Amino acid sequence: MAVLVTGAAGFIGFHTSLALLDRGERVIGVDDLNDYYDVTLKEARLAALKAKDAFVFERADIAGRAHMEALVGRHPDITGVVHLAAQAGVRHSLVDPYVYLRTNVEGHVVVLEACRRLERLEHLVYASSSSVYGLNTKLPFSTRDRVDAPASLYGATKKSMEAISHAYGHLFEMPLTGLRFFTVYGPWGRPDMAAFIFTRKILAGEPIPVFNHGDMRRDFTYIDDIVAGVLACLDRPPADGAARARVYNIGNHRAEPLLRFISVLEEALGQKAEIELLPMQPGDVKETFADIADTRRDFGFAPTTTIDEGIPRFVAWYREYYRV
Ligand SMILES: NC(=O)c1ccc[n+]([C@@H]2O[C@H](COP(=O)([O-])OP(=O)(O)OC[C@H]3O[C@@H](n4cnc5c(N)ncnc54)[C@H](O)[C@@H]3O)[C@@H](O)[C@H]2O)c1
Repeated sequence: MAVLVTGAAGFIGFHTSLALLDRGERVIGVDDLNDYYDVTLKEARLAALKAKDAFVFERADIAGRAHMEALVGRHPDITGVVHLAAQAGVRHSLVDPYVYLRTNVEGHVVVLEACRRLERLEHLVYASSSSVYGLNTKLPFSTRDRVDAPASLYGATKKSMEAISHAYGHLFEMPLTGLRFFTVYGPWGRPDMAAFIFTRKILAGEPIPVFNHGDMRRDFTYIDDIVAGVLACLDRPPADGAARARVYNIGNHRAEPLLRFISVLEEALGQKAEIELLPMQPGDVKETFADIADTRRDFGFAPTTTIDEGIPRFVAWYREYYRV
C-alpha cells in the first residue's frame, strides 16, 4: 500500500508527505522541481523526505501523459492520492496564464486519467483553493455558496478542477474530494506569500507592500492544521452511494486583519516594519473566511493554531534556515 503525493517538494506536499511517512505509509512523491520560486528550497525539502526509507521520489511533470501513466503502472499498490502539484499564486496568473491551464487543468485531467486505472484506489484528495470564492461577499465562505465569480485565472482553474472532478466521480465512480485551502503559512513556506515576503523585507530594512491600504482580512491557516485536515479527509473517502466528488473548506475559521498579522510578525521578529500602503492589486480579494462546519462534522477537523502561535514558529524556522 502506498500514497501518491504530487507536488511533494512543495510547501504543503512536503509537510503532508512527512506526516504520512511518520505514520508508517509508503509515499511516492512526484514533483517537477520547476523554478517558479527558489529551487534550492524545494531541494532542501526533498532532501529531508529522501532521508526516510519509505519515500520514493519520481521527478515528473504531472501534465506529461506518458510519464504519469508509466509512473502509476510502476506503483500498482497506490491506494491513496494527495494531488497538490499546481501552479500556485494568484498574482502570477496575470503574468503567465498558460502555465496555469497546463498544470492545473490539463495536469489535473492527466492525474485523474492515470489514477482511474489504479485498481486499489480508495481515495484521491486534491487541492482546490479559497480563490474559487472570488468576488463572493457573503461571509464566511461556505461550500454551499455558488462560486461563479472568480477574481483570477488561478481561481478559475481551481474551480475547473472541481468541475472536472465532479464529472470523473460521476462517470467512473472515482472517490474524489477537493479541499479548498485558505492562506496557508508556516515553516518551509512559500516565498511568494505574505509571511515570507514580509519577513524577508522587514529583516532587510525594506518597506513592505500592503495592498488595499491594509483593509484586508485573511483566514490564515497554519500548516499543521492543514496537514491534519488532509490526512483526516484522506482516511474518510466518500461512502458508497454518497456524492463521489465532494468539496470542503480547510481554513482556520478566523478572519484576521492584515495589519494585525503584520504586528504579530513584527513582535516575533523584534523589528518594526516600514509599511508602504498601496491600492488593491488586480486578482486579489478583500477578505477570506472559511465556514468549516461540514469539515468539522465529517472529518473532525478542528484547527487549533492562532497566528500568535503560528507566526513565531514560522519566524524561528526562517531565522534558522536562512541564518538571519
Ligand atoms: N499555500 C496556500 O496558501 C494554498 C492555498 C490554497 C490552495 N493551495 C493549493 O495547494 C497546493 C499546494 O500548494 P503549495 O503552497 O504547497 O505550493 P508549492 O508551489 O509550494 O507546491 C506545489 C509543488 O508542485 C510542483 N509542481 C508545479 N507544477 C508541476 C507540474 N506540472 N508537475 C509536477 N510538479 C509540479 C512545484 O514544483 C511545487 O513543488 C496547490 O495546488 C495550491 O494551488 C495552496
